[in-house]
Amino acid sequence: MKIGIACDHGGLSLKATVKAILAKENEVLDFGTDSEASVDYPDCAAPALKALKSGEVERLVLICGTGIGMSIAANRVAGVRATLVHDSYTARMSREHNDSNCLVLGARTTGVAVAEEIVAIWLKTAFEGGRHQQRLD
Ligand code: RB5
Repeated sequence: MKIGIACDHGGLSLKATVKAILAKENEVLDFGTDSEASVDYPDCAAPALKALKSGEVERLVLICGTGIGMSIAANRVAGVRATLVHDSYTARMSREHNDSNCLVLGARTTGVAVAEEIVAIWLKTAFEGGRHQQRLD
């Protein structure tokens, strides 16, 4: 699958780790940022969200300091189901119940080992459909 990734300066420290996990079995498109220079998260998210909306990428991972700003920006885009995930349970539920197509992480709130676990679960867990599809519709 083709997956996009983007972060702001607050998320940069986690991006390489997440990218390496994604790249094991997927094609990864990196939309930046690539420096510690302060940037605005909506600007970092915009090209990546455009790629998700157009189908250029099937899924997207966004990272900022807390994950909150990126979540707000992402969920303004129709068709994007962005889920701010903090643990393995919410990672699983975000896929099974919410059909998350955009995983959001906070680099300042989630440790590397937990983030690795979250990404692995989010990648492999299928959407349950049924009553959850009805709710999404
Ligand atoms: C940047 O300092 C920080 O505000 C941003 O990464 C994010 O946490 C916003 O929600």
